[in-house]
Amino acid sequence: MDTSHYDWTDYYDIVSTGLEHDVDFYTAMAREANGPILELGCGTGRITIPAVMAGVDIVGLDLSEAMLEKARMKAKMMKVGNHVAFVQADMRDFTLPQKFAAVIIPYRTFLHLLTVKDQLAALRSIRSHLQEDGILAFNIFVPSIKHLYEQDEKSSTRGIYEIPGTEDRLYVWDYTRYDHHQQIAQIIRQYERVGSTGVVVEKVNVPFYIRYMFPVECHHLLKLAGFTVVNRYGDFQRSEFGPDSTELIVVAKKIQ
Ligand SMILES: C[S@@+](CC[C@H](N)C(=O)[O-])C[C@H]1O[C@@H](n2cnc3c(N)ncnc32)[C@H](O)[C@@H]1O
Repeated sequence: MDTSHYDWTDYYDIVSTGLEHDVDFYTAMAREANGPILELGCGTGRITIPAVMAGVDIVGLDLSEAMLEKARMKAKMMKVGNHVAFVQADMRDFTLPQKFAAVIIPYRTFLHLLTVKDQLAALRSIRSHLQEDGILAFNIFVPSIKHLYEQDEKSSTRGIYEIPGTEDRLYVWDYTRYDHHQQIAQIIRQYERVGSTGVVVEKVNVPFYIRYMFPVECHHLLKLAGFTVVNRYGDFQRSEFGPDSTELIVVAKKIQ
């Protein structure tokens, strides 16, 4: 069965546990911004909810109603449901009634924008929702030419996971196909749920797309959209970005 990647929220949460220290990084950054925060592509609230629990005033925006529904449920369970707003909208074109001290886009979500036109549209919307001195922070992976070549048209195992509250296990594979002309990767994630007797009880293929982006390209794109880069980190402990970095964390401000 083929369906949308972000409809499978329970499997998403089991598999997508984030990058080392990213929750702490974004929560600390949100606190330092000292004002209301907007998280774009908030998903099921993996970052949003810990941030609210740390006292951050945050709005989570996402395109997927299924992801937002789970985020709202998790926030309620953690007894912070009344302290956070989750909004269904497209980051390429949204209008909210307030301006923010920071807009954050964790977990490589910016890469879901598949054309330069979409990237610029999102940056335009972000710019108009930032306070004068507000910051934009997001992270993307650094493409490795070797991996782009080696992974093309290949399946790789993502892992085997316990399914909480059951004796079932989840086997996960990614099949990747690149269009290097458009810098787009199509990833077909295959979930196979195996019961305690070893029988496969569910099997789904969920395709999704990302547009990989090189660090220099990111720099120029931000400039074109009226931002200046104020910091670049190579990991979530704020190490300097350098030639061996596999992640690029960008902090930018509006050019006045
Ligand atoms: C990789 S997940 C990240 C979720 C969450 N931020 C986290 O760190 O776990 C990407 C999220 O971006 C959302 N998304 C993709 N395209 C979007 C768009 N154009 N506007 C708003 N959200 C979008 C997806 O629905 C999904 O929830």
